[in-house]
Amino acid sequence: MLPIGRIDSHSHILPGIDDGCPDIEASLACVRQFIAAGYVGTICTPHVIPKAYPENTPERIRTWVTALQAEITQEGLEYQVWPGGEFVLAKENWEYFERDGVPTLANSRATLMDWWGPSWPDFADPTIDRLLAEGYQPILAHPERMKLRESELRDLVDSLTARGVWLQGNLNSLSGGEGPFSQMLSQAWLKGGRYKLLASDAHHPDRLAGRFAGLQVAIDLVGQDRVTELVQHRTRAFVE
Ligand SMILES: [Fe+2]
Repeated sequence: MLPIGRIDSHSHILPGIDDGCPDIEASLACVRQFIAAGYVGTICTPHVIPKAYPENTPERIRTWVTALQAEITQEGLEYQVWPGGEFVLAKENWEYFERDGVPTLANSRATLMDWWGPSWPDFADPTIDRLLAEGYQPILAHPERMKLRESELRDLVDSLTARGVWLQGNLNSLSGGEGPFSQMLSQAWLKGGRYKLLASDAHHPDRLAGRFAGLQVAIDLVGQDRVTELVQHRTRAFVE
């Protein structure tokens, strides 16, 4: 039985498989800090970028999560991890999905994606529309950190929200760790009810303090109940 508590919906704490935790010691150090911050579990979302990380298929990610769970349990920690992924939007997304599957968050149809280019690419909307048509729930990670011009970014967020894409804010943006522009946007979008989720995007135990500080910023801005919905109720639905 999963205890009541927060569940993180975006993290790179699997050891040694992307630009996240380099080894199991770092993964376990993250888990200890998440427990201290009121979390009971993490959906592990390593980068799914075939050119950079060809090994990171949904099937292998499930195996690695099982191995990390065994280490956590062996360490005597009560904490649960689930498989997921964070795919970068690319021309080849559907070719990849048809071969290796759509990386979904735990037991859900939700799927996490990101984009770092200077403008929104032509292939993104068809990919997103097809995911929606096939019953997936696309989630765009940290939109406040994207590199688009501000007017394009604001229009894009309006259009994606209207089409049913969920926006996931980064806790580190809220506390200022991603710079003043991301902080301003994230705080405005949180207050405006734009985010369906808030998540850590944890990569390393030495860089978690700003994430947890972001939780307090969020509580100060919109209250405990609203934050609980964004980091607990909605993420629990993914794993149940
Ligand atoms: Fe990430």
